[in-house]
Amino acid sequence: MIDKTEIERIKQVIVEKLSSIHTLKCVQKINQLVDEIAGQEERETESLSSSSEEQVVTPWVVSGKIDHDKVIEKFGCKRIDESLIDRVERLTSRRAHVFLRRGFFYAHRDLDKILDCYESGKKFYLYTGRGPSSESLHLGHLIPFLFTKYLQEAFKVPLVIQITDDEKKIWKKLEKEETKRLGRENVKDIIACGFDASNTFIFSSYATVGGKFYENVVEIADCITVNKANSTFGFTGEASTAKMIFPSVQAAPSFSSSFPHKLFPDEKKNIPCLIPCAIDQDPYFRLTRDVAPRLDFIKPALIESKFFPALRASGNNGKMSASDANSAIYINDSAADIKKKEDIPFQYLSFFLEDDAELEHIKKEYGEGRMTTGDVKKRLVQVVTEIVERHRMARAAVTDEMVDAFMTPRPLFE
Ligand code: TRP
Repeated sequence: MIDKTEIERIKQVIVEKLSSIHTLKCVQKINQLVDEIAGQEERETESLSSSSEEQVVTPWVVSGKIDHDKVIEKFGCKRIDESLIDRVERLTSRRAHVFLRRGFFYAHRDLDKILDCYESGKKFYLYTGRGPSSESLHLGHLIPFLFTKYLQEAFKVPLVIQITDDEKKIWKKLEKEETKRLGRENVKDIIACGFDASNTFIFSSYATVGGKFYENVVEIADCITVNKANSTFGFTGEASTAKMIFPSVQAAPSFSSSFPHKLFPDEKKNIPCLIPCAIDQDPYFRLTRDVAPRLDFIKPALIESKFFPALRASGNNGKMSASDANSAIYINDSAADIKKKEDIPFQYLSFFLEDDAELEHIKKEYGEGRMTTGDVKKRLVQVVTEIVERHRMARAAVTDEMVDAFMTPRPLFE
């Protein structure tokens, strides 16, 4: 058994070898950006001793070697195929978002039904959310929101965004007031993505659960047995009962009647809902879909993303020092693993570079060895820096008045 310091020393050697391939500045910059993209401080990552290779995907733990096809299989959702993407493009008369056409948002439940509904001129609304556990959102957190913005623009539909300050109090043991403060800070980042102010309602759980919303929470919770919650979320007897109730709080916004103010001026009882989210949120909505028919509600549809391949998912709960470049090349990685990790910059590029022709060109050059990983990283830095800079400027322009406006309950209009 090798001890920890020995592992660290060997890692250092590997890191130095790898780093010397590229210019130092580039390596530092890329690590900083990759941190922003792949930072997974909310997720407990696999420990260094990768004895358990088995993948675990719950809303709180994502570990093991993630095989996204297996996740689909295990959860029972469907893969988004070319014909579905074509249909989205046809119906919205615009090119699908890169995250969709390059397979980052790759799974769904009932997306076809939402499209049927849209095609026949009926309404639907979008619902997504964020558990505020950090001061500001990094690029990885922004991805679902950037995608949701595209959906709102393409389909011209109302959007509700839940800030689950309660969730982070329960799971992260953050102080209640701190989760509220972080929530408001996160709302600024969300607004900076450019959502339509007249068509977007952002709300915190603490501020909203009551009235119609709470009636639905109770209806939903009353359909879920302790056994069901335990088997879906892996709760044990030690779990607090707050954990038992929270899934119903996250489920409630999937049903339009939870909102006392109408989302549409001519709203009838049931408006179909589409939820863009990362696939780790699927267990919540699987449950939600199970209970929907029992309450005469429509099952929410889902459009689900993969996780970002984490270059720096560390052995020790994700917190690494800045000097620890490329630290996620583990000592027990095989040559194939390392090669795969070296390919991650290209994967990132394929999610962020809009230009299909340029990406195709880079793919060819890189594949045939005329471009190095370092070259790919350089281009990635440019592309991502532009996105990050644009976001920083937009966020700086978000005022407290804007936050209040987005968070005021009001009817939303098309
Ligand atoms: N549980 C999510 C998180 O930890 C927050 C959330 C609430 C959410 N409602 C949602 C995410 C709906 C996606 C869709 O960040």
